Amino acid sequence: MKSSGSPFSHRVDPFLGPVEFASQDRQSSNDHECARAGKEQEGDTDHDDGQTNDRHENSSQQLEHMADSPWLVLRSQPYRGLESSGGGAAIRPTVAGMDLEAALSLITGRRTNLRIDPERAVPESLIATLCEAAVWAPNHKLTEPWRFAAITGDARKNLGELAARVLVDGGVTDPARLEKTTVKYLRAPMMLVVACAPDPDPVRHAEDLAAVAAGIQNLLLAATSAGLASYWGTGLTARSAAAVEFCRFEAGSEIVAMVYLGWPKGDAPPTDRHPPVVNWVQD
Ligand SMILES: Cc1cc2nc3c(=O)[nH]c(=O)nc-3n(C[C@H](O)[C@H](O)[C@H](O)COP(=O)(O)O)c2cc1C
Repeated sequence: MKSSGSPFSHRVDPFLGPVEFASQDRQSSNDHECARAGKEQEGDTDHDDGQTNDRHENSSQQLEHMADSPWLVLRSQPYRGLESSGGGAAIRPTVAGMDLEAALSLITGRRTNLRIDPERAVPESLIATLCEAAVWAPNHKLTEPWRFAAITGDARKNLGELAARVLVDGGVTDPARLEKTTVKYLRAPMMLVVACAPDPDPVRHAEDLAAVAAGIQNLLLAATSAGLASYWGTGLTARSAAAVEFCRFEAGSEIVAMVYLGWPKGDAPPTDRHPPVVNWVQD
């Protein structure tokens, strides 16, 4: 595993410990290769129905889609505890070496935070890493249903105008609300929209939505670990076909999150949770 050369390795180690990264700069290379992780594991058996863990039927199409990804070559690796530099010194913990306290600190430290500096851009390579973190979510049948759109620059204003039109179509007439909506996506340097691809099978689609939501949590945790503020938004715009089209997603895709992302100007207000109620069923 590399100890250097990755622009983000120091930030995302806790997540990417078992993954070997080779990063490519988008601008610096037109030769966009993206080998899929763990392809050799195809055919693993399912846990619940004993069927083969078959990849999506049009996997070659998916690989083609992934080949457009300029950023990373991923290879999953078995957990190995502490990695060695070769000289004997442990240089980075893998997931197996991440203690529970650190994991819980990250999980509980993530906050919905819109106190974002809109002027300070998020590096493209970091966005790529967040999306890569997302795709390691659990995913029944490995359908890889997640789709991402990074909305930056003037596109944020265009998306805001689209959001205002969606409100108008929904009967909203209040000019102040419409004006506020028009500029709302300018509150962050970027919006990362995450959608779920359509599937005609309702059970599969429900599972795909769950996988995408899990992926979004991966993404938010990775963002938190990178020091970014994030805010998961939804609403009428997210539910509109116009937004799906704007993001260049396949028709019928469902937008699951419109994530405001950027560097924090301040902390989010503290929040709390009730202790979970767990039904221990033992006989
Ligand atoms: C599916 C989903 C949709 C959400 N949509 C919105 C939203 O439209 N507006 C908003 O302010 N927060 C939205 N949130 C964020 C929650 O309001 C937020 O997680 C909650 O207030 C708890 O705060 P915390 O994330 O800091 O723990 C959404 C969260 C989820 C999981």
